[in-house]
Amino acid sequence: MDLTSLEQRATAELAACADEAALRAWNTTYFGKQGEVVQAVAKLKEVPPAEKPAYSKEVNRIKVALAAAYEAALAQVKEKTLEQSLTQHALDVTLPGRRAPRGRLHVATKVMREIRAIFADMGFQVYRSREVEDDRTNFELLNMPPHHPARDMWDTFHTTTPGVILRTHTSPGQIHVMRQFAPNPVRAVLPGMCYRHEAVSTRSEIQFEQVEGLAIGPNVTMADLKGTITAFARRLFGEDRQVRIRSSYFPFTEPSIEVDIDWPKDDPNADRLTKGTGWLEIMGAGMVHPTVLRNGGYDPEKVSGFAFGMGPQRIAMLLHAIDDIRLFWQNDLRFLQQF
Ligand code: DAH
Repeated sequence: MDLTSLEQRATAELAACADEAALRAWNTTYFGKQGEVVQAVAKLKEVPPAEKPAYSKEVNRIKVALAAAYEAALAQVKEKTLEQSLTQHALDVTLPGRRAPRGRLHVATKVMREIRAIFADMGFQVYRSREVEDDRTNFELLNMPPHHPARDMWDTFHTTTPGVILRTHTSPGQIHVMRQFAPNPVRAVLPGMCYRHEAVSTRSEIQFEQVEGLAIGPNVTMADLKGTITAFARRLFGEDRQVRIRSSYFPFTEPSIEVDIDWPKDDPNADRLTKGTGWLEIMGAGMVHPTVLRNGGYDPEKVSGFAFGMGPQRIAMLLHAIDDIRLFWQNDLRFLQQF
């Protein structure tokens, strides 16, 4: 075997390789299983004993030299490819970046979170209740049998399935909470969307949020309700807020109340917000009616409870002087970016 011509041929062919694929093919030709270098090494056993040391030394030298040359050529080709791709797809890192538009929370979400946080501090858990309700839970179990005149307070969206409606208030959630926790005491707030079949105007929308509150246990009293509401109002509206309670009527509470807070007289919006009275209505509330307690699985002889319901959109309108409730769900960035 002519080792010299093998080395020369291999070296010349290696130099002619233009890219990585050609280099790898070259490697197979010389260093593959049947590769010429590999075969030259195998030939050693056929060489006459006297020539063996010289042959062995030479074939080894060639093998090592070619392998090193191959590795060097491969590294060079890879570097060249990288360089080419860098110049072809040049990236000017000195250009100013494009700022990603930063989102923000919806004003309704912010107010809702504030309300939830205040009640969380008072030990109320958040309970999510369904928006698609049945007539029974939305009305009947809240002490409003079919044809009860109080139902007129809630214009209702009905589905095509008889008895299945969109909830008109978060109060049916009270039934779900009670049935899950009875006979144990429970404190929960129930935030969520409600729907009413109303003529849309600056003051009423067909969808809006409510936050329901419910506390049930032995000896829960009206004083607890007043204390809770006062603490809430002062956290949300200011430490020196006064709370006024008026008697009212809801079928699911007895007695029922409506809660007003005073509004600072020096606020330029005071007249608009309080219609000149100095008082602003923020929620309906009361002591849970014994029939409702029973429907929820409690024994009204053993426990009592209070409940309240408020509209955070109304509260947001007050806090931020928003004069049209329709703005909340119109998704107009000019409105949303103000908060
Ligand atoms: N569900 C009533 C409404 O939508 C608000 C309400 C009043 C909720 C009194 C209550 C309550 O829990 O005790 O108008």
